[in-house]
Amino acid sequence: MPEHGHGHHGHGGQMTPEQQRQMIEQEIRLARNLGQIKHKIVVMSGKGGVGKSTVAANIAETLQAMGYNTGILDADIHGPNIPKMLGIDMLEEEFNQYQFDAFKNIVEGDLAGKDLTDDEQREIIESRKEQYKHSIFPVVAPSGLKVMSMAFLIDSLDRPIIWRGPQKTGAIKQLISDAHWGKLDFLIIDNPPGTGDEPLTVLQTIPDADLVLMVTTPNVVSQEDVLKCVKMVELMNIDKIGLIENMAYYICPHCGEKLHIFGEGNGEVFAEEMEITYLGDLPIEESVSQSPLNDATISVLDPKDEVSVRFRQIVADIKKEFLD
Ligand SMILES: Nc1ncnc2c1ncn2[C@@H]1O[C@H](COP(=O)(O)OP(=O)(O)O)[C@@H](O)[C@H]1O
Ligand SMILES: [Mg+2]
Repeated sequence: MPEHGHGHHGHGGQMTPEQQRQMIEQEIRLARNLGQIKHKIVVMSGKGGVGKSTVAANIAETLQAMGYNTGILDADIHGPNIPKMLGIDMLEEEFNQYQFDAFKNIVEGDLAGKDLTDDEQREIIESRKEQYKHSIFPVVAPSGLKVMSMAFLIDSLDRPIIWRGPQKTGAIKQLISDAHWGKLDFLIIDNPPGTGDEPLTVLQTIPDADLVLMVTTPNVVSQEDVLKCVKMVELMNIDKIGLIENMAYYICPHCGEKLHIFGEGNGEVFAEEMEITYLGDLPIEESVSQSPLNDATISVLDPKDEVSVRFRQIVADIKKEFLD
């Protein structure tokens, strides 16, 4: 079994038998849940604000619209804004109700059409409770995309989430091991930015990622941060890495000319130097930016928009370069 990051925090020796049992059970759930997912794509960036979540959300919605059964895991525990980008914001209380309803649906499905005594019914209900006691049921967006985010586990949007060190990686790992996706063609993971403990935990917990997608902006400073990310991913023995350059140019609304505000071609040169795959650029465009009026991604709101077309092209290239 691959090492899943335990040992990394050095608590292996001090665990009680009960803690050891729990850890092994979590590993089993992890293997079982991830085993049902055909392709896993981790989206990363050197730093925040470059459009990592925007790219992750649009790629997930694009795959879903193409007919793939897709999930998105928002592992960015400090800024979990995927639900907002998809228009399915919900806080702890509503999420708990959602969990209850999801469980009820499963049980009702199991009981339907069977002629059972009260005792037999109770027995099935109890066994399902045991079976799903660790399961976190993803929220299903209007498109059918399945979503799990740390944002669902907090009780107020304006309260910052304060995490202590080991809690952070523990929470991330739990989200990955216990989200009950069922069978998926694709899982997109929005990783926290940078090269710290948290993004590392995601890579360790999903050691068989098909692809790591780096998102950057064309300025050189942003690229230096990506360089560190690429090095970290390569140290994890993942060699399938793609680069998307976001906010690369601006289309003049008057003449339609492409204005490369931060310089042209940087991403491509950089990808070549790093020996990673360049997957193209995206314009900076109002329709892409998230406003209170846009409670869905551009890919869903306007599939004909130039940026939505670009996302379909990027997905096609990802399939061609990495999956076929
Ligand atoms: N290509 C783009 N054009 C316009 N706005 C964008 C673009 N990409 C991202 N944004 C906006 O920039 C902000 C940061 O993007 P976000 O995806 O949250 O970044 P990150 O996840 O890297 O922190 C958001 O308000 C988002 O709507
Ligand atoms: Mg983000």
